[in-house]
Amino acid sequence: MTAAPTLPGTVTVRVPAKVNLQLHVGALRPDGYHDLATVFQAVSLHDEVSVARWDGWQVVPAGTYADGIPTDEDNLAVRAAKLVAERCGVDESLSIRIDKDIPVAGGMAGGSADAAAALLACDQLWALGLDRDELAEMAAVLGSDVTFPLSGGTAMATGRGEQLAPVLARGTFHWVFAISDEGLSTPAVYAELDRMREESGESVAEPQVRPDLMAALRQGDAAALGQALHNDLEPAAFSLRPDLRELRDAGVEFGALGGIVSGSGPTVAFVTESHEAALDLSVSLAAADLCRDLRRAKGPVHGAQVVAGPRD
Ligand code: C5P
Repeated sequence: MTAAPTLPGTVTVRVPAKVNLQLHVGALRPDGYHDLATVFQAVSLHDEVSVARWDGWQVVPAGTYADGIPTDEDNLAVRAAKLVAERCGVDESLSIRIDKDIPVAGGMAGGSADAAAALLACDQLWALGLDRDELAEMAAVLGSDVTFPLSGGTAMATGRGEQLAPVLARGTFHWVFAISDEGLSTPAVYAELDRMREESGESVAEPQVRPDLMAALRQGDAAALGQALHNDLEPAAFSLRPDLRELRDAGVEFGALGGIVSGSGPTVAFVTESHEAALDLSVSLAAADLCRDLRRAKGPVHGAQVVAGPRD
């Protein structure tokens, strides 16, 4: 992370990335979305979003993945701040600094995490006193994955991904994330899944999280979790990016307990039995030269949190 922001009155929120432990995708709905049944886990890769009053709207990119941050008003964090301003009758504009340590367009909900962080930061900056339900309602307007980073931990999501229920998870899991050069577009991956399903003529089942995952989480059993990982979007991601299958298979061969494309990809997530095993796996994957970058993280971690307030 780069140095702390210096604008006076800045509020900074730290927000985690997510991985989908199971992602079951239902049929395409008339509104263009798919019903999901998924389990999210928040992991210890974090962005920091800092907001301060400013003459006009601006995005200041910083951190490991600064280059991938859109700086125009399409940035989801800007849209989040504008939504809070509009809903709460605030007539101010902001400078929004994003310290990005979550891969961009990687299937780890980095942009969504930044939007969730911006909601919380604006609530603090403008002393609005919004409760969790009000924040969650605005999060759902912004995107399917924006609600989860507010609470973090491990949670089941249904609907288009915005209806959350906490899941009992014991212990800590050790992850390795293999990060690609090129991002994958989420709508393109969903569209590829629809195309593949139409081509095969398979009927699409009601999405449901399987009990094997819930049992693995309840018992804190990393080996069982590795076996229970599942992502309906994975074949579509492999179809668009065949190299990802090779990467996933290599990680499992090198000793991961399980490997999976994270969300819509292209990041591939591996669960390992310990911190040391995660280090060993990173070394092996780096030597195989199949991805751009490797990151280790643990999960679950808590959701978005204010780390510096306007009076700090
Ligand atoms: O909600 P969000 O803007 O993050 O979704 C991005 C895109 O991902 C949607 O436009 C849609 O193509 C796809 N999507 C979907 N079903 C979901 C969530 C996302 O088809 N439940």
